[in-house]
Amino acid sequence: MDVSENQPTDFQLIPHRGFNLISGIHSTETLEQLEKCEIRDTDIFVITYPKSGTIWMQQIMTLIEAKGDLNATENIPTSMRIPWIELKGSMDEFASAPSPRLRVSHLPYYLVPQALRQNKGKVIYVARNPKDILVSYYHFHMYAEMLETPKDFEEFFERFLEGRVFGNSWFDHIQGWYGHKDEMNFLYLTYEEMKQDIKGAVLKICTFIGKQLNDEQIENVVEHCTFNNMKKNKNANYEAVPDNLLNQKKGKFMRKGIIGDWKNHFTVAQNERFDKFFHERMKDMPLHFMWDAQDCATTA
Ligand code: A3P
Repeated sequence: MDVSENQPTDFQLIPHRGFNLISGIHSTETLEQLEKCEIRDTDIFVITYPKSGTIWMQQIMTLIEAKGDLNATENIPTSMRIPWIELKGSMDEFASAPSPRLRVSHLPYYLVPQALRQNKGKVIYVARNPKDILVSYYHFHMYAEMLETPKDFEEFFERFLEGRVFGNSWFDHIQGWYGHKDEMNFLYLTYEEMKQDIKGAVLKICTFIGKQLNDEQIENVVEHCTFNNMKKNKNANYEAVPDNLLNQKKGKFMRKGIIGDWKNHFTVAQNERFDKFFHERMKDMPLHFMWDAQDCATTA
């Protein structure tokens, strides 16, 4: 989620070409410029649906860039090390930034620079099982002041399935991106595979972006991007974001960081409804997700 300082507090979701923007944070002008902007071969875009592990990948990417040296990333918040492209007014800085430009976005595939779909630049898409996303997003809504506070979990559950949230429908987001992956230089990773084998994921990313790190540097990247270490690192956990955006008294960005927390939240009926909805919406896109850390081979 794109949060930075000094934003106004009268936030609303504003529909723009099938995607909800947050007033005061995003602007249609920026998106129009973005679509047509020039892309360099060295540009790397991290794309996620909210609560899929965006901040984790931001930390990993900047650590890889710094060859595992935490000092090179210290005192610079995540949102500045790898900024959001959809943020209002981001385009001037983007145009003049030195290479390699690392950027992050929650946008759907059809609103990002068109050149990405002509094999320019690189895209890393991080997916997460949507039951855990729903739970993580519910907790995020309970303390993010720029998003409408849910009445209760049940109400948010329906809102999420219908896509009446920032990010819109998770199903549309992943289908749009994954369905167009062959038009892009595209790496697909899941939150769950990162949880299971973070070193393997870091090596995959290094190969994809053509970055060579020695064993010690790889170990340093791995160490500084663990949940516990990021939780302690104020530049990697959004604790410095002001209360008018994230009310730190009500919640934490680095909440649990586990696979399968949905089991602590979903009723049996909600789980059945979710599975039915998932099968209907994903029948043409047989992507498999790990729903539980224990029975890691299962799919919905
Ligand atoms: P939970 O709320 O389930 O704990 P995003 O950055 O896309 O908003 O994703 C936030 C989610 O990723 C939160 O999930 C957060 O705890 C989790 N996360 C962030 N860094 C992580 C890490 N290093 N390891 C595991 N999970 C992480």
